[in-house]
Amino acid sequence: MTRKIAIVSGKGGVGKSATAANLGIALAQLGKDVTVVDANFTTPDLSLHFGSPIGTPTLHHVVTGEFRLEDAIHVHPSGLKIIPASIAIGDMKRTRYSKHRLERIINRLTGDFILLDTQAGLSNEVQMVMAAADEVLVVTNPEWPAITDALKTILIAKEHGAQITGVILNRVTNHKIEPSLKGVESILETEIIGIIPEDIHIKHSIATKNPVIIYEPNSDAAVSFKEIAAKIAGVKYKVPNKYKRKFKLMLKNLFG
Ligand SMILES: Nc1ncnc2c1ncn2[C@@H]1O[C@H](COP(=O)(O)OP(=O)(O)OP(=O)(O)O)[C@@H](O)[C@H]1O
Ligand SMILES: [Mg+2]
Repeated sequence: MTRKIAIVSGKGGVGKSATAANLGIALAQLGKDVTVVDANFTTPDLSLHFGSPIGTPTLHHVVTGEFRLEDAIHVHPSGLKIIPASIAIGDMKRTRYSKHRLERIINRLTGDFILLDTQAGLSNEVQMVMAAADEVLVVTNPEWPAITDALKTILIAKEHGAQITGVILNRVTNHKIEPSLKGVESILETEIIGIIPEDIHIKHSIATKNPVIIYEPNSDAAVSFKEIAAKIAGVKYKVPNKYKRKFKLMLKNLFG
């Protein structure tokens, strides 16, 4: 069975693309057949998270019919398959996509996981991607504006009949001003399946166009992504001892 998971947030800039890139690689490293799709037709940036230059053809060119779907699948050295979107403003303006067309394309993809990176907000474009997916993975930050938008996103996703895979709390600093994990879970009525700490390695990795899981596999963020990937794939992952202590402390603080 192919699991189609849309990565959504409501609020922009919370870490959807970083999650799509790193979870994609982490799942591929677990031996899964994974395709990550930049289903952000307006402000795509997933390809900027990867080291190898990813150019034409893109999802835009598949939607316009200029290229075949197979031609737009780029294989990363990690084994992860990537369908980028075009960052050119001309392609954005001339591409006429529709729910039906996107669903037809997504449904032709095979493998274990299809991860769909999305635009920020809850526009028709985002809702179209949620409708094309079976599951929705919500990324948020430990700040109330992001959590409020995440709640709205969860409610809309449910209206589309999507199953909620869980919430990822990204950029956790453990500062006492951050809301408690329990508080966030009770407001969102959804399990937090992963916590990713604020980690400067993510910024470095984006600057070098290499997901953190490859750039610095032993960083806190990379270990967190591996843990979340294992949870989603339903396989065991042994968190190295030195992280266990650190993560335990983080959870203790978050639970208040
Ligand atoms: N855990 C983290 N630690 C430190 N910085 C992070 C972390 N996660 C994300 N960032 C920073 O936040 C920026 C935004 O991340 P990203 O592009 O993944 O967000 P996004 O939700 O996809 O944004 P958009 O809504 O614009 O598509 C990154 O460029 C990176 O600098
Ligand atoms: Mg993004």
